[in-house]
Amino acid sequence: MLSVSAKESAPASAAPVTKFRPGAVWPDTTGKPINAHGGGLLYHEGTYYWYGEIKQGETYLPKVNASWGGTRVDVVGVSCYSSKDLLNWEPRGNVLPAVPGTDLDPKKVLERPKVVYNAKTRKFVLWFHADSVDYAAAACGVATSDSPTGPFTYIRSFRPNIQSWPVNLKEGEKDAKGSQLVKDFPVGQMSRDMTVFVDDDGKAYLFSASEGNPTMHISELTDDYLGTTGKFLRIFEGRSMEAPAVFKRNGKYHLIASGCTAWEPNAARSCIADSIWGPWKELGNPCKGDKAGITFQSQGTYVLPVADKPGSFIFMADRWNKDNLADSRYIWLPIEFDDKNAPVIRWQDEWR
Ligand code: DGJ
Repeated sequence: MLSVSAKESAPASAAPVTKFRPGAVWPDTTGKPINAHGGGLLYHEGTYYWYGEIKQGETYLPKVNASWGGTRVDVVGVSCYSSKDLLNWEPRGNVLPAVPGTDLDPKKVLERPKVVYNAKTRKFVLWFHADSVDYAAAACGVATSDSPTGPFTYIRSFRPNIQSWPVNLKEGEKDAKGSQLVKDFPVGQMSRDMTVFVDDDGKAYLFSASEGNPTMHISELTDDYLGTTGKFLRIFEGRSMEAPAVFKRNGKYHLIASGCTAWEPNAARSCIADSIWGPWKELGNPCKGDKAGITFQSQGTYVLPVADKPGSFIFMADRWNKDNLADSRYIWLPIEFDDKNAPVIRWQDEWR
């Protein structure tokens, strides 16, 4: 029989997780609920890393956000978890803690962290939505680390695309769908909900809700992934897409995004393109079945190409609890594809 003292000194551990259970509390390997919201995954040397917003403490509604229901918790930082099987996640700590009086101030906004690996510089680069409490700053933040588990060193926050880009495209050039290539904008572009996508050739792109949210921008990143080159594409003008998740399958680029309804869920939209520079085409709502119109009461954040199952993709989403953001849950569901290459997402109570 285990003595009391042996029990007390044993490291905390939880029963192994054997299935995905969308919407249920998901314990980490110590038994605590995983705290990684608006997150993204990185697969590096045989291990998956999950980065996300730490949502803890009181949820409150700042006066400046009252008109649109913009509740919040104070910024704590970016969590990191690691896993070999995508089910059991070991907490690796807060890799970018809040720092009062800086861009990472607890009273500001730090959302949708995404980490990518730059093979040239051998740095892990963390991008996130950096904002003021009223979301008026509309910028992105960048930090780097030598290790996937941090700590990350904060570099700066900025509005992308203040630089000019190589003049191999005509200014104002539009494709058939009205997407437009823009150059030499005098001021940086607004950037809120975002993700970063690294293509097979190592080039990376920022997808972010811009122009006050109605139009999404795809911005080319510099070779070191620390900034934007100034070359960017405007897509889906006036369609107000946020929460972008980007992936590539069979040579085609896919974007799954939500509409803009603060913390309330809405219908997801899927989009496809043969080239990152468009033309991009909407394919409609990838979710099917009961509650498909509200993305099964969630909002996407990332699509994971499963490393050891080529051709398999997982849709990761957040089921936000706007009145208690710390109790927001995760919805992970497998993606199927129809004969037109359109993603299809169906609800499952549990799966593996
Ligand atoms: C919707 C965005 O997708 C979230 O990341 C967050 O910014 C909320 N709006 C805030 O209401």
